[in-house]
Amino acid sequence: MHISNDIRYIGVNDHQIDLFEGQYVVPNGMAYNSYVIMDEKIAVLDTVDRHFGAEWFANLEKELGGRQPDYLVVHHMEPDHSANIGNFAAKYPNAKIVASLPAFNMMKNYYETDFPAQKMVVKEGSTLALGKHTLTFIGAAMVHWPEVLMSYESTEKALFTADGFGKFGALDVEEDWACEARRYYIGIVGKFGAQVQTVLKKAAALDIQTICPLHGPVLTENLGYYINLYDIWSSYAVESEGVMIAYTSVYGNTKKAAEYLAEELEAKGCPKVVVCDLAREDMAEAVEDAFRYGKLVLATTTYNGDIFPFMRTFIDHLTERNFQNRKVAFVENGSWAPVAAKVMAKALEGSKNIEVAGTVTIKGALKEENKLQLAELADSMMQ
Ligand code: FEO
Repeated sequence: MHISNDIRYIGVNDHQIDLFEGQYVVPNGMAYNSYVIMDEKIAVLDTVDRHFGAEWFANLEKELGGRQPDYLVVHHMEPDHSANIGNFAAKYPNAKIVASLPAFNMMKNYYETDFPAQKMVVKEGSTLALGKHTLTFIGAAMVHWPEVLMSYESTEKALFTADGFGKFGALDVEEDWACEARRYYIGIVGKFGAQVQTVLKKAAALDIQTICPLHGPVLTENLGYYINLYDIWSSYAVESEGVMIAYTSVYGNTKKAAEYLAEELEAKGCPKVVVCDLAREDMAEAVEDAFRYGKLVLATTTYNGDIFPFMRTFIDHLTERNFQNRKVAFVENGSWAPVAAKVMAKALEGSKNIEVAGTVTIKGALKEENKLQLAELADSMMQ
């Protein structure tokens, strides 16, 4: 695949992986992107996952047409991109490895060497001249690891964004961008909104025509759409109006309450209601929805004097990603001493700008009085 005459795609699709980063289901696989810029000097941009070294080298050699690469630029050291640095260094001993100082320190951890004979350290503002093309490096610490650099190629106006603007899904499967890009972003980079905002401000000063991420498709049209979504996600703003009801239920009574509340919200004209059983649905999808919508209802049972484990996990995922700026309500159930609402409220204590709209307490089965309380809760969520 050619991004342009001189920028060529040499990445791979992974349909074997069971869990990306050891935790995310990827029903449509994963792409590990890599690029080569053909010029007087040849720069290879990042490698791929360890299982795909042979395929990647074959892709590279096809584009090289018998020439030798001069540089390997390492934007990010996570092994889905860095696993073939050692193989590249051995195969092309005259090529320089171009990376940030923290990246070279990580190479020592992964390879027990920082390749001193080939090492070229760059940082924010450094340039790499290839001929017609010049890469300028942009610091992007914590998007998604501390060593990350992005780079901008000024002739083609291409921004190489490392994990930024990436998504789940291999490139040979057609699917909506935003859904799997949001699940990827919130899950993997969601904690680092402030750092993403810093990089977006730097990017705003550039004339960008192509975004080349390390996962997902190369973006060439309507870039404002993607950049706007990144701005919303990284500033923890509300992307879609609506209410998410996240619940756990042991015998179906809390589930009934969640469904009753959803009907009430819909009857009152709520633009979108998402109901999620945290024990049975993909946790990353649930976390993504909590960040997508402006309002969240947490409904769970009291369990071992605490809350049901899937709800505990869900709230931990939210708070560790800096969940904030949301309206929240609680529905608790307990057969003899319900404490779930108190526990959930405490778990969210450190989250910024959370408005609590109310609490409904159920003891065992959902009763008429509870239905009235849920209708009132729907009213306060709608305000
Ligand atoms: Fe795709 Fe943070 O590695």
